[in-house]
Amino acid sequence: DAAEKGGYEHFMLKEIYEQPKAVADTLTGRLSDDNRAVLPELDWALGMARGIDRIHVVACGTAYHAGMVGRQILERLTRIPVEVEVASEYRYRDPIYTDHTLVLVISQSGETADTLAALQEAKARGARVVAVTNVVGSSVAREADDVIITWAGPEIAVASTKAYTTQLVALYLFACYLAQLRGAADPATIEEVLAGLRDLPDAVSKVLDTAPAMKAFAQQFARKESAFFIGRGLDYVAALEGALKLKEISYIHAEAYAAGELKHGTLALIAEGVPVIALATQDHLYEKTVSNIKEVKARDAHVLALTWTGDEEMASVADEVLYLPRVSPWLAPAVVAVPLQLLAYFAAVERGNDVDKPRNLAKSVTVE
Ligand code: G6P
Repeated sequence: DAAEKGGYEHFMLKEIYEQPKAVADTLTGRLSDDNRAVLPELDWALGMARGIDRIHVVACGTAYHAGMVGRQILERLTRIPVEVEVASEYRYRDPIYTDHTLVLVISQSGETADTLAALQEAKARGARVVAVTNVVGSSVAREADDVIITWAGPEIAVASTKAYTTQLVALYLFACYLAQLRGAADPATIEEVLAGLRDLPDAVSKVLDTAPAMKAFAQQFARKESAFFIGRGLDYVAALEGALKLKEISYIHAEAYAAGELKHGTLALIAEGVPVIALATQDHLYEKTVSNIKEVKARDAHVLALTWTGDEEMASVADEVLYLPRVSPWLAPAVVAVPLQLLAYFAAVERGNDVDKPRNLAKSVTVE
């Protein structure tokens, strides 16, 4: 067991640190020298790619959060309307399909019962199904029409880390691939995303340096019973995943909120000393997020803000600031994920929890 952990105390920590390599492996052979996304496993005809008029993204847990990021980048680059839903709802909802609906299922294990059932429902209804999965030969991989493999390697810890960041990479690549085939709606953003992907292993490697700061923050934070994660746009999705990670392994109750929605209810729960993790990586939403941070500060919350290196404003607004190596805001969820994983990890360790096998959770849920 100790040998398998490669010197790390837990599989989760080992897997967090494997992310630069997992991201690089998932990109290997998929970025061409002339800055195009290459997915030879798809090899789609132009007519088929151009015909797609709706996309349903279906997944569970962390993979569902990857799907929420995927929606934003797919809509931006292809202008195809995208819906995202958890598989356990989707499969019983009688979703509406056009003749050219594409269904994208995301599953690390490729064995999640609800995701597999949703895939089967979509196929029975005549949709083309693309699977993003980490396991070659899994049920989801076998039953889908097309498969994009994430090369994260085996993920042992129940809480998903490197599978998530590589799912994001696969979705960015797929969105660029589809946009290229269809005739780009937004070539500048495709270029920005592809250039960002090239540099992503390096950025993920640099952001691992936040570990000592996250450990120090987690030591006081671990005594809290509740926390909030706030953000707008892609930061809201990153907040959802950060809160899930924290709940899964530290058992601290956490709520992720779209920062602009706080005042429509949840602000009532913000009181003195309540920890708020505020994400501010989306440049076009930055000032709005800063106002939301001021709202919670006015209620004496304790705010840790995550923003880009070089930000000169945040230090005067939040109690603590964690600076991240700058990447394109489109890729921010893949960078922000790392310190949030570390926060959950160190909080769980501090509380003496079984980090790799949290209570009541399974790595792969193969029953309904
Ligand atoms: C379980 C795990 C989660 C995971 C979810 C989906 O609930 O505990 O960490 O995100 O299943 O798993 P999948 O293998 O389909 O990605």
